Amino acid sequence: MSQRTKIKALLESEKTNIDITVKGWVRAFRQNRFIALNDGSTNNNLQIVVDFENTDPELLKRITFGAAISVTGELIASLGQGQKVEVVAKDIEILGDCNPDEFPLQPKRQTLEFLRENAHLRFRTNTFGAIFRVRNTLAFAVHQFFQERGFIYLHTPIITASDAEGAGETFHVTNFDLDNPPKTETGEIDFKQDFFGRPTNLTVSGQLEGELGAMALSDIYTFGPTFRAENSNTTRHLAEFWMIEPEVAFNDLVDNMDLAEDMLKYVIKYALDKNKDDIEFLTQRLTEEEKQKPQNERSEMTLLEKLQFCLTNDFERLTYTEAINILKESTPNKKKKFVYPIEGWGTDLQSEHERYLVEKHFKKPVILTNYPKAIKAFYMRQNEPDAQGHETVAAMDILFPGIGEIIGGSQREERLDKLEQRMDEMGIPKDELWWYLDTRRFGACPHAGFGLGFERLVLFVTGMGNIRDVIPFPRYPKNAEF
Ligand code: 4AD
Ligand code: MG
Repeated sequence: MSQRTKIKALLESEKTNIDITVKGWVRAFRQNRFIALNDGSTNNNLQIVVDFENTDPELLKRITFGAAISVTGELIASLGQGQKVEVVAKDIEILGDCNPDEFPLQPKRQTLEFLRENAHLRFRTNTFGAIFRVRNTLAFAVHQFFQERGFIYLHTPIITASDAEGAGETFHVTNFDLDNPPKTETGEIDFKQDFFGRPTNLTVSGQLEGELGAMALSDIYTFGPTFRAENSNTTRHLAEFWMIEPEVAFNDLVDNMDLAEDMLKYVIKYALDKNKDDIEFLTQRLTEEEKQKPQNERSEMTLLEKLQFCLTNDFERLTYTEAINILKESTPNKKKKFVYPIEGWGTDLQSEHERYLVEKHFKKPVILTNYPKAIKAFYMRQNEPDAQGHETVAAMDILFPGIGEIIGGSQREERLDKLEQRMDEMGIPKDELWWYLDTRRFGACPHAGFGLGFERLVLFVTGMGNIRDVIPFPRYPKNAEF
């Protein structure tokens, strides 16, 4: 195997007039002379100049869109415009033919829906190349952010017996023969005979186990796949998504918000620095796409401006109660434009309300705190009732423009009696979560954490509109292809 140089390195090369070998896939072949070659290391193609008069015509025919080739030649300062360097080919080898009559991709703009059906090939487009390079950078940046701050990366289980969110949206895990599962004497499925000797499911969140780690390691984070069998066919939900869940001993709600805001800014800045070309390309793509929309639906800022705006502005922090008051008085509410009118205190916010607050009212990311106790998970710390007697918990949700909820978190209820009481009220089985309750029995302390939906972050940074386009192989209702 000859040494190959990646296209990114060649395009940035200070040295010219050197012999190199480069390998990649043909993106275009013009006038039997100019190959645009891409190897995924960058969004930019390398121009290869072919001496077609002295090249076997049979070989030239095989240089088609999508073919994998190897080129050895001289890297020179480009004679043409549009690129700094190009390669004058001395030897071209076809590594893999690509018949243009059969290849599903075409060298033209194809719809995102079509590319989703061809997710096995969509990496080869400019858009998906950019998305998955940005996704990679964001994942790395998340680790770097936490590692720089001394957090311990904790691997929480994928298979568990608990439903951390208590929402009943779990996927069962079993190795029973589903046609003939063993039954008890009373005719129920006998999970004692199942692989784990009890009913189990895929995790919806690593939080509860993360809290156990934080009660000794102080600062931990998880970063792994989570699974939810919620039947939501939306552009914001996946059945399998990646979540980042820091959990920090001795942190309160304000510390939690500070950590979340710092983290989001850090990783967005990291991607802006590292993936400048990709984000510029995605900015252009979004601007083009928005031209199809009526003027009043287009965003006021480009993608790049939105990302920069997010870095330079403090997120707006307000309580749920304050948000409800704003929404109640809002024009769309008064004009009955909301599908779910704001009736009063206590109702859950719908995405139309979140988007109004973020996109119309504040025009910046928003952190909402102190939600009604009744609409949040059992583990959130209970606040003292306010002057109106409203019962709230120390929750925080971060809402982003175009995304809605990107982070959900809270300070945790560390007081055993309060926690047990809440579990009873909500029908959360205390006996099954004995180990969780033990942390409140032995050396309990105030602590807080949150969950960032990784794909929602990637959506925001890439400016894409559908979460199914920012994970390589999306899982959603009625789809598990690839
Ligand atoms: O708000 P959620 O349900 O919170 C938790 O799971 C907590 N245990 C987190 C914690 O405090 N450690 O989910 C957290 C985030 C949401 O804000 C959202 O970004 C994302 O996970 N998320 C989803 N992303 C894609 N598809 C889905 N079906 C999602 N459900 C939640
Ligand atoms: Mg939530």
